Amino acid sequence: MVKIRKIINELSPYVPGRSINEIAAEYGLKKEEIIKLGSNENPMGPSPKAMAAIEEEIKKISQYPESGLGDLKEEIANYSRVNPEQVIIGGDGADEIIEMLGKTFMDPGFEFIVALPSYMYYEYILQTYEAVPAYAKWDVEENKLDVQSVLDALSDKTRLVFLCTPNNPTGGLIDKKDIKTILEATDALVVVDEAYFEFSLVDNVDLLEDYSNLFIMRTFSKVLGLAGMRIGYGLAHPQIIEYMHRAKPVFSLTKLSHAAALATLRDPDYIKESTELSITSREFLYQEISKIDNIRIFPSKSNYLLMDIRETGMNAAQLSKELLKKGIIVRDCTSFKGLDEYWIRASVGTLEEDEKFIKILKELVSSR
Ligand SMILES: Cc1ncc(COP(=O)(O)O)c(C=O)c1O
Repeated sequence: MVKIRKIINELSPYVPGRSINEIAAEYGLKKEEIIKLGSNENPMGPSPKAMAAIEEEIKKISQYPESGLGDLKEEIANYSRVNPEQVIIGGDGADEIIEMLGKTFMDPGFEFIVALPSYMYYEYILQTYEAVPAYAKWDVEENKLDVQSVLDALSDKTRLVFLCTPNNPTGGLIDKKDIKTILEATDALVVVDEAYFEFSLVDNVDLLEDYSNLFIMRTFSKVLGLAGMRIGYGLAHPQIIEYMHRAKPVFSLTKLSHAAALATLRDPDYIKESTELSITSREFLYQEISKIDNIRIFPSKSNYLLMDIRETGMNAAQLSKELLKKGIIVRDCTSFKGLDEYWIRASVGTLEEDEKFIKILKELVSSR
């Protein structure tokens, strides 16, 4: 028998949101009827300019993609108000950026900090680098980072600190002053995950000037509408970016993703409209779901909302299954460390999808 690394034997799996194809097959539903609110995508679909750019670029896919990505780095730098030397691009979304952080900065036995509950993929990736998690706390009731718990978790073995703002799955923001406090307390790389920053209308790019241990991570999968193209990026001091480029796969961004990303950033009207639609949808869902007595919904600065459903008499697996039978995919949050089995997360839909979701949700929880 072939020998595998010990760590691969011990890995705990990552549980992603479920796809329309899977659900259609499992519940005998028509794909067009399914409403997907499980993965925090853009309900508007991609920019028409991105679709046109892909159509044009498809004629050239017998050629390798570019490795330097100079034009895209420049466009991202403009969008983010930094210099192109401060940009790194990942071809499996921001998830590839996490992988590169592991590859570049982690040695076996060293530590990373994450405040639970938060995005689970950090731990999923970093365990393959034999890194050790040091858990801090996100105060769910206050929807606020417990900054002291992060400071307490720091040690001379800390290599990476993950701060997700807005935090997935809770939707709360981290105050800039708290990010500064953490940056000043450590030499470790502090990774501020801004996958959803557009929905919160705030960002932390201004801190890059003063802190060389800050890394900002972002994605084209959310407001930019390109989750299926897998494009992520990071912003940091040029030295950090240079180290990471040494470990980066050379051709991971496909030609089609490259073209789609450029076209989307050159379509500011689409970005503005997507942001506004998502924020309107979020506030509508929040208002309407707040009226349901046995569901506790938390205010959010992102494009999803966290709900405590324990008073409904169902757990998250049961309620999400009932919703699936009616063609609605939400995220059962049981696999998020730091939450128990009574939480679901729903992302924003179009207003029509929101209305259908609210109606079905009300029927399901009031019939109990
Ligand atoms: C907080 C957070 N960070 C990063 C990602 C990764 O995004 P992607 O790999 O699609 O770019 C996600 C995806 O849902 C996320 O929620």
